[in-house]
Amino acid sequence: ADIPVLTIDGPTASGKGTLAAEVARALGYHLLDSGALYRATALAALEAGVDADDEAGLAALAAGLPLRFEPDHVWLAARDVSDDLRREDVGAMASRISAFPAVREALRQRQLDFRRLPGLVADGRDMGTVIFPDATLKVFLTASAETRADRRHKQLISKGISANLATLLQDLQARDARDRSRSTAPLKPAEDAQLLDNSALTIEASVAQVLEWWAQRR
Ligand code: C5P
Repeated sequence: ADIPVLTIDGPTASGKGTLAAEVARALGYHLLDSGALYRATALAALEAGVDADDEAGLAALAAGLPLRFEPDHVWLAARDVSDDLRREDVGAMASRISAFPAVREALRQRQLDFRRLPGLVADGRDMGTVIFPDATLKVFLTASAETRADRRHKQLISKGISANLATLLQDLQARDARDRSRSTAPLKPAEDAQLLDNSALTIEASVAQVLEWWAQRR
C-alpha cells in the first residue's frame, strides 16, 4: 500500500470523470473509472439476457468479464464498447445492479488491481469509503442537481440527441437517491474527504484545487 491513490467520489454528472482524467494526466498516474466496470457488467447482462434481479448470475458475469482498459477506450473481449457504455439504458441498469453486494464484491478485486506504480486516480461512488480507505487524498465532488442536469443536457444536445431538461433532472435525482440510500457502499463522503462543489468552477480551477491539496498531502 505504498502506491499512492487519489480518490474522487461524487454523484451522477458531477464531472468526476473529467476531473479524474485531467488529474491523472497531470500526475502521470493510472486511471480507474469504476463506473465503467458497473456499466460493462450492465451491458453484458442486457445483451446476455441476464435478469436484473438475478444477483448470483450478475455477480458471476461481473467476475468473468473479459474487460480491457485503454486511454479513452474500453474493450469487452474483441469489441470496443466505449460508446455503448455511455447509453442511458446501460447507465440505468448499472445503477440497479450496483445495489447488489455480490456484484460489488465481484468487482472489488478488479478495482484493487488498478493500483500500480507510479500511482492511481480512481473515480466512482465508494473509492474513498470502501475500495481505497487508505487513499492519500480523498475528494468528494458535488454540484447542484440543476447544474448537473444542465451539463448532461448540453452534452446530449452536442451529440445530436434531443433531451428534456426536466426529465433529466428527475432521472438524475432518482439515481442519486438510489445511490445514497442503498445499504451496501452508499454514496457519501468519507469522513476524511475534502469537499469540492464545482457548480461555479471551471474544469481548470477544479483540477488546480485538487493538485494543490495533493501537493499538501504528499
Ligand atoms: O459513474 P457512472 O455514472 O459511470 O456509474 C454508473 C453507475 O454505477 C452509477 O449509477 C452507480 O450506481 C454505479 N457505481 C457504483 N459504484 C462505483 C461506480 C459506479 O455503484 N464505484
